[in-house]
Amino acid sequence: MSKTALSPIISGTMNWGVWDKNLTLKEMENMIQICIENKITTFDHADIYGAYTTEADFGKAFQTSKISREKLQLITKCGIQMIAESRKNTIKHYDYSKEYIVWSVEESLKKLKTDYVDVFLLHRPSPLMQADEIAEAVERLKSEGKIIDFGLSNFTSSQTELIRQKTEVSYNQVQFSATNFEPMVDGSFDYMQTHGIRPLSWNPLGTVFREDTKKTRRLKKLLSDLVKKYGFGSDTLLLAWILKHPAKVIPIAGTVNVARIQSLMKAVELEMDKEDWFAIWTESMGDDVA
Ligand SMILES: NC(=O)c1ccc[n+]([C@@H]2O[C@H](COP(=O)([O-])OP(=O)(O)OC[C@H]3O[C@@H](n4cnc5c(N)ncnc54)[C@H](OP(=O)(O)O)[C@@H]3O)[C@@H](O)[C@H]2O)c1
Repeated sequence: MSKTALSPIISGTMNWGVWDKNLTLKEMENMIQICIENKITTFDHADIYGAYTTEADFGKAFQTSKISREKLQLITKCGIQMIAESRKNTIKHYDYSKEYIVWSVEESLKKLKTDYVDVFLLHRPSPLMQADEIAEAVERLKSEGKIIDFGLSNFTSSQTELIRQKTEVSYNQVQFSATNFEPMVDGSFDYMQTHGIRPLSWNPLGTVFREDTKKTRRLKKLLSDLVKKYGFGSDTLLLAWILKHPAKVIPIAGTVNVARIQSLMKAVELEMDKEDWFAIWTESMGDDVA
């Protein structure tokens, strides 16, 4: 069981920095403040965001904000070695050696200007990962107080089990939404519920606002009716769809739009009718359930 209490919706920082929105220090500080004011107290990072730069930008904004550390929870990840100015990598690859994991967490702590991260995740499974070595790194980081909880991201159930046999796994961050619902049907969420592993979902809005396909058109049509019924926006309904799953999935919202952040928590209050939940799934599949 995890020791950390995360907010029911998490703010994802992947696009805050140079990879997309290029927020200034002041804008990041403002973003952290607005999230916290709206009860979004957990922030999802990865070492690679902004080609290894966004953690440091966030850290500076956090430091100048003077917000106390106990008011927020930080998640970060390691393992992806990408081509970047600050690295000597010649090809994108994964590294889960004990030395690299420990070094990477220590780098994240320096950049985020904190003594500990609440949740530390391995970003993607590697065919070369050694469970014993990973467990040694995790146990050392926990005993030094540098990480509180440990988890995985994009791991299948069998890959998770491999690691779980050696050290406690509290979270698995997977792609999950009304348009990308594999973890719900491939046994991943059943496995996670069985073993007390909390799913976190990245890209919780799926392709609905990103793509114009038959699927997204069907969903948008249905959502416009549900918007009238519930009085909440389509994005809120898509998050409420995720929150209704018994695996107790925590969505990671990527928006940096202030009005959208202010309404994110409405999804937690929304009790979606069962038939509406199935209607969204049906429109996504383009077919009735069997
Ligand atoms: N573990 C992994 O492998 C992995 C992979 C990818 C991402 N992540 C994490 O997941 C987080 C979220 O991912 P995501 O950005 O894909 O999340 P998302 O919340 O599904 O998508 C966010 C995007 O949707 C737009 N959006 C939100 N509401 C909208 C609306 N009502 N109408 C139109 N557009 C709308 C946002 O634009 P505005 O900003 O303008 O609102 C933003 O561009 C990332 O920040 C990262 O922390 C993890």
